[in-house]
Amino acid sequence: MWPLSVHASFRAGLAWALLSAILGMDLSLQESLLLKSLGLSAKPSPKTAVPVPSVLWRIFQNRKTPTNKGLEDACKVEEFNVPGNIIRVFADQGHFIHSRQPQTLLCLQKRLYFNLSVLEEGERLTMAQLEIKFSHNSYHTSSRGQVFGLRLYQTAQLSLRGMPSREHSRKLLVEQSFAQLHKSLLFNLSGVAKDWQTYSKNLGLVLEISVGGGDGASALVSWGLQSLCASIDSFLDTSLLVVTLSRQQCKASRRRRSTYDAPITPSNLCKPRRLYISFSDVGWENWIIAPQGYMANYCLGECPFPLTAELNSTNHAILQTMVHSLDPEGTPQPCCVPVRLSPISILYYDNNDNVVLRHYEDMVVDECGCR
Ligand SMILES: *[C@@H]1O[C@H](CO)[C@@H](O)[C@H](O)[C@H]1NC(C)=O
Ligand SMILES: *[C@@H]1O[C@H](CO)[C@@H](O)[C@H](O)[C@H]1NC(C)=O
Ligand SMILES: *[C@@H]1O[C@H](CO)[C@@H](O)[C@H](O)[C@H]1NC(C)=O
Repeated sequence: MWPLSVHASFRAGLAWALLSAILGMDLSLQESLLLKSLGLSAKPSPKTAVPVPSVLWRIFQNRKTPTNKGLEDACKVEEFNVPGNIIRVFADQGHFIHSRQPQTLLCLQKRLYFNLSVLEEGERLTMAQLEIKFSHNSYHTSSRGQVFGLRLYQTAQLSLRGMPSREHSRKLLVEQSFAQLHKSLLFNLSGVAKDWQTYSKNLGLVLEISVGGGDGASALVSWGLQSLCASIDSFLDTSLLVVTLSRQQCKASRRRRSTYDAPITPSNLCKPRRLYISFSDVGWENWIIAPQGYMANYCLGECPFPLTAELNSTNHAILQTMVHSLDPEGTPQPCCVPVRLSPISILYYDNNDNVVLRHYEDMVVDECGCR
């Protein structure tokens, strides 16, 4: 016979092991359900911490501190005035194209490729904006008066070698000149990117930058500009900002946005209670960039007879409390449940290491009711 204490602690240990196995299973089930509702197939594990594009930070900060008191459309990106609740910034994955015969006036030729395969089926693309940026802005900006020519082609068909073939199979989308290398150039690619949602149609773009602009003044290219032209590829930075509307999460509802902190009063009536959810507590701190947590709240309390207007009850709940007061054993009280929830925005890395700003419905309990 084991001494009782050993026996008991063995049993407790076994119970604990069983319990944690069940809890663990439950947790991973819960987690995958939640990830699914966040539109993710698995918990992302970003390999490299891509810096958060400043435009996403700016929008995120705006949403954290809403200035308006009235209604804000959770499914609209105010900053761009388009419908949408997900904003992604895709990094360019295209390669440079080295032509066989060097062309003196052509500074660079590059394929631009953005892998949009993470977009889900129910997402409607409402905006795509290409940003071409030159990270270098020091002494070369003295090349004043000199212009660069930029051409952007849509690739319609790949050649047999898998490279974008030159003529016929590409369509000129944009042709423009620019002078200042430190300014971002923005292009509306909404029309083009809609096609890219069909994976097989995404053949990318071809970008060409040349010196001398399109005005025939190319003979006057200075030596400094020539060398800048030759090295422009090393500080080119291209990305695609894509706004989509996820129909699942945006049921065309208009909700009031708030960072509501539930008041704490001693009453035990149904009402919102404070609950802070920390993303590090659920082990999500390495892929959620911001916020680190948020005030989610929950509903708790009694729904006693007679139900008052403050308890936001339905006719059904009023009748149910009446029946409950007559027959407490047979009919339960109505339940204290969330009746108004508001969204929050989350900035995170997705399964493809892109930085995503997404607006999630129904994340914060604002009001409770007896239902
Ligand atoms: C695009 O991303 C998907 C999902 O990560 C991947 O399976 C696919 O190979 C990628 N395509 C290209 C061309 O990189
Ligand atoms: C971008 O282009 C689409 C059509 O391709 C157009 O409907 C939309 O209004 C344009 N957006 C802006 C901001 O010009
Ligand atoms: C019921 O709704 C009102 C506003 O419509 C709100 O002030 C009140 O707090 C809500 N009641 C509960 C229990 O949340």
